[in-house]
Amino acid sequence: MPTVPEDHVEPAPLFRVNDYDSLAEVYAAENEAGIMNTYYERPAILALAGDVAGRRVLDAGCGSGPLFAELRDRGAVVTGIDASAGMLEVARRRLGDGADLQVVDLRDPLPFPDGAFDDVMASLVLHYLEDWGSTLAELRRVLTTSGRLIVSVDHPFAIHGIHRLAGRKTNYYATYNWTEEWTMGGQAAPMSFWNRPLHAMTDAFTAAGFRISVISEPQPVPAARELFPDDFRILSNSPSFLFFVLEAD
Ligand SMILES: C[S@@+](CC[C@H](N)C(=O)[O-])C[C@H]1O[C@@H](n2cnc3c(N)ncnc32)[C@H](O)[C@@H]1O
Repeated sequence: MPTVPEDHVEPAPLFRVNDYDSLAEVYAAENEAGIMNTYYERPAILALAGDVAGRRVLDAGCGSGPLFAELRDRGAVVTGIDASAGMLEVARRRLGDGADLQVVDLRDPLPFPDGAFDDVMASLVLHYLEDWGSTLAELRRVLTTSGRLIVSVDHPFAIHGIHRLAGRKTNYYATYNWTEEWTMGGQAAPMSFWNRPLHAMTDAFTAAGFRISVISEPQPVPAARELFPDDFRILSNSPSFLFFVLEAD
Protein backbone atom coordinates (compact mmCIF):
# COMPACT_ATOMS: atom_id res chain seq x y z
CA MET A 1 0.00 0.00 0.00
CA PRO A 2 1.52 3.40 -0.99
CA THR A 3 2.43 5.65 1.91
CA VAL A 4 1.78 9.38 1.97
CA PRO A 5 5.03 11.39 2.39
CA GLU A 6 5.04 13.48 5.56
CA ASP A 7 5.50 16.71 3.63
CA HIS A 8 2.58 15.92 1.30
CA VAL A 9 0.15 18.82 0.99
CA GLU A 10 -3.30 18.14 -0.42
CA PRO A 11 -3.88 20.31 -3.50
CA ALA A 12 -6.34 23.10 -2.87
CA PRO A 13 -9.78 22.22 -4.18
CA LEU A 14 -10.61 23.88 -7.47
CA PHE A 15 -13.66 26.11 -7.66
CA ARG A 16 -16.43 25.26 -10.08
CA VAL A 17 -17.84 28.02 -12.33
CA ASN A 18 -19.76 30.61 -10.26
CA ASP A 19 -19.16 28.46 -7.19
CA TYR A 20 -20.65 30.92 -4.70
CA ASP A 21 -21.27 28.11 -2.18
CA SER A 22 -17.52 27.46 -1.86
CA LEU A 23 -16.59 31.11 -2.33
CA ALA A 24 -19.05 32.42 0.25
CA GLU A 25 -16.67 33.22 3.12
CA VAL A 26 -13.90 34.66 1.00
CA TYR A 27 -16.26 36.53 -1.33
CA ALA A 28 -18.03 38.10 1.67
CA ALA A 29 -14.68 39.24 3.11
CA GLU A 30 -13.52 40.73 -0.21
CA ASN A 31 -16.91 42.39 -0.74
CA GLU A 32 -16.46 44.19 2.62
CA ALA A 33 -12.78 45.05 2.24
CA GLY A 34 -12.49 46.30 -1.34
CA ILE A 35 -13.58 49.49 -3.05
CA MET A 36 -16.02 47.94 -5.52
CA ASN A 37 -18.86 47.03 -3.19
CA THR A 38 -18.39 48.98 0.04
CA TYR A 39 -17.26 52.28 -1.48
CA TYR A 40 -18.87 52.21 -4.91
CA GLU A 41 -21.76 49.86 -5.65
CA ARG A 42 -23.52 49.69 -2.28
CA PRO A 43 -23.52 53.42 -1.44
CA ALA A 44 -24.79 54.11 -4.96
CA ILE A 45 -27.69 51.67 -4.86
CA LEU A 46 -28.64 52.82 -1.35
CA ALA A 47 -28.64 56.46 -2.52
CA LEU A 48 -30.96 55.53 -5.38
CA ALA A 49 -33.30 53.74 -2.95
CA GLY A 50 -33.50 56.82 -0.71
CA ASP A 51 -35.75 56.63 2.33
CA VAL A 52 -36.87 53.02 2.70
CA ALA A 53 -38.24 53.24 6.26
CA GLY A 54 -41.34 51.07 6.56
CA ARG A 55 -41.06 49.72 3.01
CA ARG A 56 -41.17 46.01 2.27
CA VAL A 57 -38.01 45.31 0.29
CA LEU A 58 -36.92 42.18 -1.56
CA ASP A 59 -33.11 41.92 -1.79
CA ALA A 60 -32.85 39.65 -4.85
CA GLY A 61 -29.43 37.98 -5.04
CA CYS A 62 -28.66 39.18 -1.52
CA GLY A 63 -25.44 37.18 -1.19
CA SER A 64 -23.89 37.46 2.25
CA GLY A 65 -26.38 40.18 3.21
CA PRO A 66 -24.48 43.50 3.41
CA LEU A 67 -27.21 45.39 1.52
CA PHE A 68 -29.93 43.62 3.51
CA ALA A 69 -28.24 44.85 6.73
CA GLU A 70 -28.08 48.46 5.50
CA LEU A 71 -31.70 48.44 4.36
CA ARG A 72 -32.85 46.94 7.67
CA ASP A 73 -30.82 49.56 9.60
CA ARG A 74 -32.75 52.20 7.61
CA GLY A 75 -36.08 50.77 8.77
CA ALA A 76 -37.07 48.58 5.80
CA VAL A 77 -38.71 45.19 6.28
CA VAL A 78 -36.36 43.05 4.22
CA THR A 79 -36.55 39.60 2.63
CA GLY A 80 -33.35 38.23 1.10
CA ILE A 81 -33.18 35.57 -1.60
CA ASP A 82 -30.19 33.97 -3.28
CA ALA A 83 -29.47 30.80 -5.25
CA SER A 84 -26.48 29.97 -3.04
CA ALA A 85 -27.15 28.28 0.30
CA GLY A 86 -23.50 28.96 1.20
CA MET A 87 -23.92 32.71 0.74
CA LEU A 88 -27.11 32.63 2.80
CA GLU A 89 -25.29 30.83 5.64
CA VAL A 90 -22.88 33.76 5.83
CA ALA A 91 -25.85 36.16 5.61
CA ARG A 92 -27.58 34.30 8.44
CA ARG A 93 -24.55 34.75 10.71
CA ARG A 94 -24.50 38.47 9.91
CA LEU A 95 -28.22 39.09 10.16
CA GLY A 96 -29.36 36.69 12.88
CA ASP A 97 -32.00 33.98 13.16
CA GLY A 98 -34.93 36.35 12.68
CA ALA A 99 -33.84 37.46 9.20
CA ASP A 100 -36.10 36.30 6.34
CA LEU A 101 -33.60 34.56 4.03
CA GLN A 102 -34.63 32.01 1.43
CA VAL A 103 -32.80 29.93 -1.16
CA VAL A 104 -34.45 30.97 -4.44
CA ASP A 105 -33.12 30.82 -7.99
CA LEU A 106 -34.16 33.96 -9.87
CA ARG A 107 -34.69 31.86 -12.99
CA ASP A 108 -37.63 30.17 -11.22
CA PRO A 109 -41.06 31.49 -10.22
CA LEU A 110 -40.78 33.45 -6.96
CA PRO A 111 -42.43 32.04 -3.82
CA PHE A 112 -44.23 35.31 -3.00
CA PRO A 113 -47.77 36.55 -3.69
CA ASP A 114 -48.54 39.36 -6.14
CA GLY A 115 -47.76 42.83 -4.80
CA ALA A 116 -45.79 41.56 -1.77
CA PHE A 117 -43.03 44.22 -1.97
CA ASP A 118 -42.69 47.99 -2.32
CA ASP A 119 -39.15 47.70 -3.71
CA VAL A 120 -36.97 45.03 -5.24
CA MET A 121 -33.21 45.56 -5.14
CA ALA A 122 -31.29 43.48 -7.70
CA SER A 123 -27.69 44.30 -6.87
CA LEU A 124 -25.06 42.79 -9.20
CA VAL A 125 -27.11 39.70 -9.95
CA LEU A 126 -28.92 40.11 -13.29
CA HIS A 127 -25.69 39.73 -15.29
CA TYR A 128 -25.59 36.08 -14.18
CA LEU A 129 -28.81 35.40 -16.10
CA GLU A 130 -29.11 34.60 -19.79
CA ASP A 131 -32.83 35.29 -20.02
CA TRP A 132 -34.16 38.37 -18.23
CA GLY A 133 -37.75 38.09 -19.51
CA SER A 134 -39.24 35.60 -17.06
CA THR A 135 -37.19 36.94 -14.11
CA LEU A 136 -38.25 40.56 -14.71
CA ALA A 137 -41.88 39.46 -15.13
CA GLU A 138 -41.71 37.75 -11.73
CA LEU A 139 -40.04 40.76 -10.10
CA ARG A 140 -42.78 42.97 -11.57
CA ARG A 141 -45.49 40.57 -10.30
CA VAL A 142 -44.29 40.66 -6.67
CA LEU A 143 -44.14 44.48 -6.65
CA THR A 144 -47.06 46.74 -5.73
CA THR A 145 -48.49 48.83 -8.56
CA SER A 146 -46.35 51.78 -7.44
CA GLY A 147 -43.33 49.61 -6.66
CA ARG A 148 -39.73 50.13 -7.77
CA LEU A 149 -37.09 47.78 -9.13
CA ILE A 150 -33.60 49.14 -8.43
CA VAL A 151 -30.83 47.43 -10.39
CA SER A 152 -27.06 47.45 -10.63
CA VAL A 153 -25.26 45.45 -13.31
CA ASP A 154 -21.90 45.25 -15.02
CA HIS A 155 -21.68 48.28 -17.31
CA PRO A 156 -21.81 46.93 -20.88
CA PHE A 157 -19.37 49.59 -22.17
CA ALA A 158 -16.89 48.57 -19.45
CA ILE A 159 -17.19 44.90 -20.39
CA HIS A 160 -16.79 45.80 -24.06
CA GLY A 161 -13.64 47.76 -23.13
CA ILE A 162 -12.19 44.78 -21.22
CA HIS A 163 -12.63 42.57 -24.27
CA ARG A 164 -11.13 45.14 -26.64
CA LEU A 165 -8.08 45.58 -24.40
CA ALA A 166 -7.64 41.80 -24.36
CA GLY A 167 -7.81 41.77 -28.16
CA ARG A 168 -11.06 39.78 -28.26
CA LYS A 169 -13.38 40.46 -31.16
CA THR A 170 -16.67 40.76 -29.30
CA ASN A 171 -19.66 42.55 -30.74
CA TYR A 172 -21.05 45.23 -28.40
CA TYR A 173 -24.53 44.74 -29.85
CA ALA A 174 -24.67 41.03 -29.05
CA THR A 175 -25.92 39.34 -25.91
CA TYR A 176 -23.27 36.79 -25.08
CA ASN A 177 -21.74 34.69 -22.33
CA TRP A 178 -18.22 35.48 -21.19
CA THR A 179 -15.94 34.21 -18.46
CA GLU A 180 -13.16 35.60 -16.36
CA GLU A 181 -11.04 34.30 -13.53
CA TRP A 182 -11.35 35.99 -10.17
CA THR A 183 -8.63 35.40 -7.59
CA MET A 184 -10.36 34.56 -4.35
CA GLY A 185 -8.38 33.65 -1.24
CA GLY A 186 -5.34 33.08 -3.43
CA GLN A 187 -7.14 30.66 -5.74
CA ALA A 188 -8.52 30.98 -9.25
CA ALA A 189 -12.31 31.13 -9.31
CA PRO A 190 -13.87 30.86 -12.79
CA MET A 191 -16.86 33.18 -13.17
CA SER A 192 -19.35 33.28 -16.01
CA PHE A 193 -21.56 36.23 -16.97
CA TRP A 194 -24.07 37.33 -19.58
CA ASN A 195 -23.31 40.66 -21.19
CA ARG A 196 -25.99 42.55 -23.09
CA PRO A 197 -25.98 45.99 -24.67
CA LEU A 198 -27.73 48.92 -23.02
CA HIS A 199 -30.65 48.83 -25.45
CA ALA A 200 -31.27 45.14 -24.69
CA MET A 201 -31.49 46.02 -20.99
CA THR A 202 -33.91 48.92 -21.48
CA ASP A 203 -36.00 46.86 -23.93
CA ALA A 204 -36.24 44.03 -21.38
CA PHE A 205 -37.30 46.43 -18.61
CA THR A 206 -40.04 48.05 -20.65
CA ALA A 207 -41.25 44.70 -22.05
CA ALA A 208 -41.68 43.48 -18.47
CA GLY A 209 -43.88 46.48 -17.59
CA PHE A 210 -41.37 48.89 -16.04
CA ARG A 211 -40.95 52.60 -16.73
CA ILE A 212 -37.31 53.77 -16.62
CA SER A 213 -37.11 56.55 -14.07
CA VAL A 214 -33.31 56.85 -13.60
CA ILE A 215 -30.20 55.60 -15.39
CA SER A 216 -27.19 56.35 -13.24
CA GLU A 217 -23.39 56.12 -13.58
CA PRO A 218 -22.18 57.06 -10.10
CA GLN A 219 -18.60 57.40 -8.90
CA PRO A 220 -17.03 55.91 -5.76
CA VAL A 221 -17.65 57.76 -2.50
CA PRO A 222 -14.97 60.39 -1.60
CA ALA A 223 -13.77 58.34 1.40
CA ALA A 224 -12.32 55.82 -1.08
CA ARG A 225 -9.85 58.37 -2.51
CA GLU A 226 -7.30 57.92 0.26
CA LEU A 227 -7.97 54.25 0.93
CA PHE A 228 -7.72 53.05 -2.68
CA PRO A 229 -6.04 55.85 -4.66
CA ASP A 230 -5.37 53.81 -7.83
CA ASP A 231 -8.79 52.14 -8.03
CA PHE A 232 -10.45 55.44 -7.10
CA ARG A 233 -8.77 57.15 -10.04
CA ILE A 234 -9.78 54.36 -12.43
CA LEU A 235 -13.42 54.27 -11.25
CA SER A 236 -13.61 58.07 -11.34
CA ASN A 237 -12.67 57.98 -15.03
CA SER A 238 -14.53 54.94 -16.28
CA PRO A 239 -17.60 53.29 -14.81
CA SER A 240 -17.70 49.63 -13.87
CA PHE A 241 -21.40 49.33 -13.06
CA LEU A 242 -24.63 50.75 -14.43
CA PHE A 243 -27.66 51.50 -12.25
CA PHE A 244 -31.39 51.80 -12.97
CA VAL A 245 -34.44 52.83 -11.03
CA LEU A 246 -37.52 51.31 -12.68
CA GLU A 247 -41.10 51.99 -11.75
CA ALA A 248 -43.86 49.46 -12.08
CA ASP A 249 -46.01 50.81 -14.92
C1 LIG B 1 -21.71 39.47 -7.03
S1 LIG B 1 -22.70 38.67 -5.84
C2 LIG B 1 -23.64 40.07 -5.21
C3 LIG B 1 -24.26 39.79 -3.87
C4 LIG B 1 -24.96 40.98 -3.22
N1 LIG B 1 -26.05 41.48 -4.05
C5 LIG B 1 -23.98 42.07 -2.93
O1 LIG B 1 -23.94 43.05 -3.67
O2 LIG B 1 -23.23 41.92 -1.97
C6 LIG B 1 -23.88 37.84 -6.85
C7 LIG B 1 -24.89 37.01 -6.07
O3 LIG B 1 -25.88 36.58 -7.00
C8 LIG B 1 -26.25 35.26 -6.68
N2 LIG B 1 -26.85 34.64 -7.86
C9 LIG B 1 -26.25 34.32 -9.03
N3 LIG B 1 -27.13 33.74 -9.87
C10 LIG B 1 -28.32 33.72 -9.21
C11 LIG B 1 -29.62 33.24 -9.54
N4 LIG B 1 -29.87 32.65 -10.72
N5 LIG B 1 -30.60 33.36 -8.63
C12 LIG B 1 -30.36 33.93 -7.42
N6 LIG B 1 -29.15 34.39 -7.04
C13 LIG B 1 -28.14 34.28 -7.92
C14 LIG B 1 -24.96 34.61 -6.23
O4 LIG B 1 -25.19 33.44 -5.48
C15 LIG B 1 -24.32 35.74 -5.42
O5 LIG B 1 -24.68 35.69 -4.08
